[in-house]
Amino acid sequence: MRAVLAALLLACTCLTVPAAVSADSAVSADPTVSFSDNGLSIRPAMGWSSWSFVRRWPDEAKMRAQADALVSSGLAAKGYVHVNLDDFFQKCDANGFVVDSFGRWAVDTAKFPSGIKALADYVHAKGLKFGFYVTPGIARNAVTANRPIEGTSYHAQDIADTTQTHKNYNCKNMYRLDHAHPGTQAFINSWANQMASWGVDYLKIDGVDATTVADVEAWDRALRQTGRPINFALSNNLPIAQAATWRRLANSWRTQGDVECYCGPGPNGSGFPLTDWAHVVSRFNSAASWQQYAGPGGWNDYDSLQIGNGDQVGLTADQRRSHMTHWAMAASPLLLGTDLTALTSVDLAILRNDRLIAVNQDGVAAQRIVNSGVNQVWRKREANGDYVIALYNTGTSGNSTVSVTWSQAGFTGPAAVTNLWSGASEGTVTSSYSATLRPGETRLIRARPNVQRYEAEGATISQGTVDSNHAGFSGTGFVNYTNVTGSYVEFTVNATAAGTATLTLRHANGTTADRPMTITTGDTTLTLGFPGTGAWTTWANATFTLPLTAGANTVRATATTDGGGPNVDYLDVTPP
Ligand code: GCU
Repeated sequence: MRAVLAALLLACTCLTVPAAVSADSAVSADPTVSFSDNGLSIRPAMGWSSWSFVRRWPDEAKMRAQADALVSSGLAAKGYVHVNLDDFFQKCDANGFVVDSFGRWAVDTAKFPSGIKALADYVHAKGLKFGFYVTPGIARNAVTANRPIEGTSYHAQDIADTTQTHKNYNCKNMYRLDHAHPGTQAFINSWANQMASWGVDYLKIDGVDATTVADVEAWDRALRQTGRPINFALSNNLPIAQAATWRRLANSWRTQGDVECYCGPGPNGSGFPLTDWAHVVSRFNSAASWQQYAGPGGWNDYDSLQIGNGDQVGLTADQRRSHMTHWAMAASPLLLGTDLTALTSVDLAILRNDRLIAVNQDGVAAQRIVNSGVNQVWRKREANGDYVIALYNTGTSGNSTVSVTWSQAGFTGPAAVTNLWSGASEGTVTSSYSATLRPGETRLIRARPNVQRYEAEGATISQGTVDSNHAGFSGTGFVNYTNVTGSYVEFTVNATAAGTATLTLRHANGTTADRPMTITTGDTTLTLGFPGTGAWTTWANATFTLPLTAGANTVRATATTDGGGPNVDYLDVTPP
């Protein structure tokens, strides 16, 4: 993906602005492009956002203090690198946003006397990334003053539709834009260029809904033409009916309204508590509906993570671990909303848990497989074949026993289980798992089915080719033995302990003649027959046992007749 990003950067710096716009429009219009191809957020973003705790009073001192704490707490080293300035950095007058000479929102210099670039520079000097905020449209003050659009002969009145306004949560009075007018894209480009020149790495566009697709498209083009990689995040409560559109255009999208409860003692419900369990648990249903739309480059965003300041955030420690578990299972961005200058040790342990972070960063959105009363079970299969399973008691009173079978989770046979919160091994579990959980508590486990698969195409091949012309194989192909005695495939099989292993060789023989082979490891040699399976596309399993030593073992399957071996797909090993 780095190569993709590098290629995009090259393309962006080489093309002139209009060419980049038209090239990107063509890409966006292509229905085969599923995820945003801006090369960003291959994994869910991690960091901090100002909205939950700082709320309507951000300033440069607070932002710097949070950036400092992100580093000194060790969270940055764990991957929490985004420092996102949310709403309320601007200045309002009676007519809405105060604007700059080209009609863009002016930054409130009382809050940010050194300016946004200085803040971004400060954040970057700490090895972090700087995020910023916008909503669709053009400010009424820009239109009233008929501000020029930078680099063009157009003016604000040429592009504004003064009969309609957009959603805005602050100074309001944001007129809609005439997207048929060429000045509109130029206006948004000028705004994006200003952000890029300040060093913005992440842009949240808020107030997005079904009526603002053209605005999101224009901002996507605008960010791309800057040549700077800028993670593009959509907010909030996006309609699922347009999920494919959000996925095409952005790196994340908020699936619901805010996770904040607005139930604190400050103005507009600011201050602690920041949230409550009902707001967190409502994300479970949302994640079940949106699961299919997440993937590298585009994530379902379940909103800020309210973990860091102990119980005062409005959640018990059990509920906070469930909050973290669910965001990890759902592969949601992990953007903290709490005060990082007052982190508790319990919460630091939650946030710095490498096993939980790994579950989030695996980039797989989990599916819900049990939803019964207060009990929920979610599962995902990671690329290495492990299953990660979360069991929850989502209730607020009383213990509950939550159970799942391996077949519900998607596999059969024994699995080695690790408790991901504690890191403790729970040994081999045969076919099901259950936990009695306190209200709001979670159990998160990794189940590694004992069967290890070795694809033939990844083995050492002597006198044979990797083919893919007969359907039904696993992996990327199978081995076609050369039709001679002595052709072989040799697997390197790892065992953690010595003992007898059960092995299964998947093969096909489209002829009617047997293709016997010797199977050798160490001093042991077996001779097995591989008679016709009926067709080259009819795959069969030959199961046998072999003694393995601890560590690496070579297992070689050698043809003993001049017909060569059967076609071989893989070797499955259940270790001793
Ligand atoms: C055919 C078949 C191959 C197979 C070969 C053989 O060519 O397509 O997949 O390996 O026969 O007899 O070994």
